[in-house]
Amino acid sequence: MSTQPAPRAGDNPERRTFAIISHPDAGKTTLTERLLLAGGAIHAAGEVKARGAARRARSDWMKIEQQRGISVTSSVMTFERGGITFNLLDTPGHEDFSEDTYRTLTAVDSAVMVIDAAKGIEAQTLKLFEVCRLRSVPIITFINKVDREGRPPFELLDEIADKLALDVAPMMWPAGMGGEFEGLWDIERERLQLADGSFSPAPFPAAHADELELAQAGYPAFDEAAYRHGDLTPVYFGSALRELGVEPLIEALARYAPGPRPQPAEPAAIDPASPTVTGFIFKVQANMNPMHRDRVAFMRLCSGRFKRGMRLNQVGTGKQIAVHSPVLFFARERETADEAFPGDIIGIPNHGTLRVGDTLTDGPPVTITGLPNFAPEILRRVVLKDPTKTKQLKKALDDMAEEGVIQVFHPQIGAQTVVGVVGQLQLEVLISRLEVEYKVDAVLEASPYDTARWVASDDAAALRKLQEEHRSQMAGDRDGHPVFMAKDLWDLNYIQGRHPAVRFSATRERR
Ligand code: G4P
Repeated sequence: MSTQPAPRAGDNPERRTFAIISHPDAGKTTLTERLLLAGGAIHAAGEVKARGAARRARSDWMKIEQQRGISVTSSVMTFERGGITFNLLDTPGHEDFSEDTYRTLTAVDSAVMVIDAAKGIEAQTLKLFEVCRLRSVPIITFINKVDREGRPPFELLDEIADKLALDVAPMMWPAGMGGEFEGLWDIERERLQLADGSFSPAPFPAAHADELELAQAGYPAFDEAAYRHGDLTPVYFGSALRELGVEPLIEALARYAPGPRPQPAEPAAIDPASPTVTGFIFKVQANMNPMHRDRVAFMRLCSGRFKRGMRLNQVGTGKQIAVHSPVLFFARERETADEAFPGDIIGIPNHGTLRVGDTLTDGPPVTITGLPNFAPEILRRVVLKDPTKTKQLKKALDDMAEEGVIQVFHPQIGAQTVVGVVGQLQLEVLISRLEVEYKVDAVLEASPYDTARWVASDDAAALRKLQEEHRSQMAGDRDGHPVFMAKDLWDLNYIQGRHPAVRFSATRERR
């Protein structure tokens, strides 16, 4: 049980733990930089990118990131403002890394959705939004790049409302965009921010006055309860690059975004005000420093006051984990954390004991629910060029499966491991890391299977029948759960139809 004195309700310092969701190029990096700059976490614009470059230089496989100009790894950035600590969880934007991204979204209490004013809702924004909706994560919208020609604000708002089935409440209104841009109108405070960032006592520019009136009449007013419930999004306009509308966004996060929310778990949801220390691992990153083969598990603290050196129980294994050198991730460097509060993210260095989905607690066993495993869309057989490297290959695949880079399936027949990924880029990462980090020379061969489904049934005989009839298509995932590998969707549907008592699931929720 907790050795801490029970904090009174409201004792926890304020936290806003959030992620930015967007399509690549909408301006997430630029906005992140502005937020950190505003919070004093970095001192000059450009440091987020510069830091990224230094980090990328560390290991060869990350060259893929450089070549493609995308961010593969995600990190945590912390800044403070007005007594509130903001934890910004970076989510990789590329669609191939959706699994990691989805898991990161299970560790936030709210999200900022960045939309390019010229493009509106794009594919990746939509996907990420859907994950947020599954968990009713409240969303603040930031329509970026108003300094450029964009689509009319009405069109953008209607698109958000239609495509996302959300109510939209404009909080700011742009007086023109691009060359016509005259400023941003703060609807609540009734004041105009000019392109140079200063505030003008002038009223809203007459040329756009009808538009503003229509906007105020045509859209619902902001309703905090509806926002918190994930039914309404307040919409801010701005330009990350020109530092316009960034302050109001931070203010909105401070005023409206929720602090730590109760975490779905079994036997009961975790109350952030509970004195028991409980957290869960949403991400594991191996080899952050290739010289040390280190591995950092990212834990989201759900309740209690965490102190360095604490012993926590790993639910399920009964192991005690002594957390001697936890790290908080600040923008400039990793800093050692002495204390952390609900909503904070703690990095726990370990040697592979901690896995994504694990719950750690100093109280009675409790298990976080809702971290999904996704059905792979590409399956490949891994073939070793040097058969003496079997052990290294197994270790490498286990490591990467733990990080969520790949999924590993062991077919019932034959010795070759099958790997599953959600996107092509993950295969490149896999091969490159095998070579660079594990010195394993392997090739990926086409597999006769296209996709996989986890299978389960309340009727043991029905499951056995499937397994016996389709022995060559059965495999176990790395925890030994049965998986059916299908040649294609037609095959999957056909077999499914013939085994109605068996559930075929595209995701296996980690419990
Ligand atoms: P991402 O992380 O979402 O992929 O986007 P990022 O911030 O890297 O921004 C993508 C491009 O959009 C960058 O230009 C960036 O400068 C630009 N951008 C971001 N915010 C704004 C804005 O408010 N207004 C305008 N006009 N542009 C904006 P780039 O040329 O691709 O990169 P860079 O060479 O400028 O770094």
